[in-house]
Amino acid sequence: MNYILKDENAIYYECGYSCDNAVYLHLGSEAFFITDSRYTIDAKEHVKKAKVVIDGDLYGRAVTLLKKARVKKVAFDPKEWTVAGFEKLTSGTKVLFKPELDLSHKKRIIKSNEELKIIAKAAKLGAKAFEKLAKEFTLNGFGEHEFTLTHKAKTILGGEGKYDLSFDPIVAINANAAKPHATPTHKKLKKGDLLLVDAGLKYKRYCSDRTRTVFADQGFVFKTVQHFGKKKIQKAYDTVLKAHDRAIQKARSGMKAKEVDALTRDFIEKAGFGKYYVHSTGHGVGLDIHEMPYISSRSDTLIEDGMVFTIEPGIYIPGAFGIRIEDMVAMVDGKAKVLSGN
Ligand code: GLY
Ligand code: MN
Repeated sequence: MNYILKDENAIYYECGYSCDNAVYLHLGSEAFFITDSRYTIDAKEHVKKAKVVIDGDLYGRAVTLLKKARVKKVAFDPKEWTVAGFEKLTSGTKVLFKPELDLSHKKRIIKSNEELKIIAKAAKLGAKAFEKLAKEFTLNGFGEHEFTLTHKAKTILGGEGKYDLSFDPIVAINANAAKPHATPTHKKLKKGDLLLVDAGLKYKRYCSDRTRTVFADQGFVFKTVQHFGKKKIQKAYDTVLKAHDRAIQKARSGMKAKEVDALTRDFIEKAGFGKYYVHSTGHGVGLDIHEMPYISSRSDTLIEDGMVFTIEPGIYIPGAFGIRIEDMVAMVDGKAKVLSGN
């Protein structure tokens, strides 16, 4: 198949290198990495299985290469292109650009053994960073507001510059945790608060993703067994934990993604919290933090060995509290193997 890519992770997946101004063109048995002269040395050192072409006019050069190879049709993913970029690429050429949604994500849905090793290491490093973060929060976190706690999470997850982050960490206290993607506030952490932390780092460009919700007290750790003082919180917490464990224990290769989603959703609904579970069970993780397979009630995707995704049920009571427990799993020998546990 002939295809053209613009997204950095999509390009990296093909040739082991990317930069913020490049186009990757795959034409039958040939491939081209087109970039500008700022990246000549790096591109020539790192690009594999593609010819490096240096040209300030990336799109013009791509079209010239298409014409030269007498290509009539080339696939692209509309999600990767801006309207302006796509117009620039396609104006003045007769080549047919054929939309192929999730072109790269579909190729990346099953991870290779090499990728699985890297992702497992990312997940381990992410879990270790949570241990450090718990120590830092118990020593220096009480009395600090969410902005400062988020900054501490960024510093620790980032390994003081060693790792990029998968996304901006979410650090939310009590009622703010009822927003699944809470942004920080001036709310300060006190002993006895509920604290939700959702964070991940990148190892060799692959993401980790993990969430823990804890009873914040001196010496707390981000483990899944938690004792909250209040009955209502404890009931919701135990429900989320059981839903999380149930999905991990029962997920099998050969199921549809929506059947995996039902493993958490049915349980939470039966416990009476259905309307407070406002998102899907999980998502694939790889070079992108959110990729296929999506573990949602609408997804017919068949789960297969080699897929990596999160199991992250939650219960969110507006104005009161929110709970989410998230781990990454890899499908191995038909079952879900936890990568980011404890
Ligand atoms: N951990 C953030 C998310 O999955 O959306
Ligand atoms: Mn997630």
